[in-house]
Amino acid sequence: MELLKVSNYDEMSERACSFIIEKINHTSLPVLGLATGSTPEGLYQHLIRSYQNDEASFNHVHTFNLDEYVGLPKADKNSYDYYMNEKLFKHIGIPREQTHLPNGNAPDLKQEASDYESLIQQTGNVDIQILGLGLNGHIGFNEPGTPFSSRTHVVDLDDSTREANARFFSSINEVPEQAITMGIETIMESNEIILLVSGESKAAALARLMDGEVSEDFPASILNRHPNVRIIADVAACSSL
Ligand code: F6R
Repeated sequence: MELLKVSNYDEMSERACSFIIEKINHTSLPVLGLATGSTPEGLYQHLIRSYQNDEASFNHVHTFNLDEYVGLPKADKNSYDYYMNEKLFKHIGIPREQTHLPNGNAPDLKQEASDYESLIQQTGNVDIQILGLGLNGHIGFNEPGTPFSSRTHVVDLDDSTREANARFFSSINEVPEQAITMGIETIMESNEIILLVSGESKAAALARLMDGEVSEDFPASILNRHPNVRIIADVAACSSL
């Protein structure tokens, strides 16, 4: 793992944007793995700016999001489908049929998870997977204890994750109890991973990741075994290193 320490959130976002633009400008069929949450919002703003300044085209790009809540209508402002459309897709001219998220409203969720996994395989490896870091070390919605061998699956969300995400909802009771997420093995098959970490609240999690011990109790720790991980972290996130 390579750690790139930057001064603040905006620099983290800008650096991540440069790596992505470089990749999509030099790859014939780039596949991006995308995340939601607070961390990548700045990156998405930078990508939009690059598109507007004619530095990049997204016509040939395919995307797969890490996860989606179960049971929220797509039009719900807390669904990840809504988030991606509002914060990125509708601003960059990407053909919508080339963007993919798991369908958290599928009648058969297990089947949906397996179909999503197959679609990723058919499209080819994810070239760059963007990840945020959960306070408990989750990546995607792979909570502590998830087998490293997991593929895309339905998960019960940890109370701590529901609490952390309650800030987007009017109360914790409205935070869905389940989600569909890419599995840890699915994530590990990406050619390249960029983990974004910002803020003091993530300092303990980043320190645990960097201590090198690999354990299913801390899902992100598996990244220590991936050959091509770049962590872009700001000074605050690095404060416990
Ligand atoms: C989002 C995702 C999650 C977040 C993580 C950090 O698609 O898969 O793993 O990356 O919960 O969230 P933020 O960025 O809101 O701190």
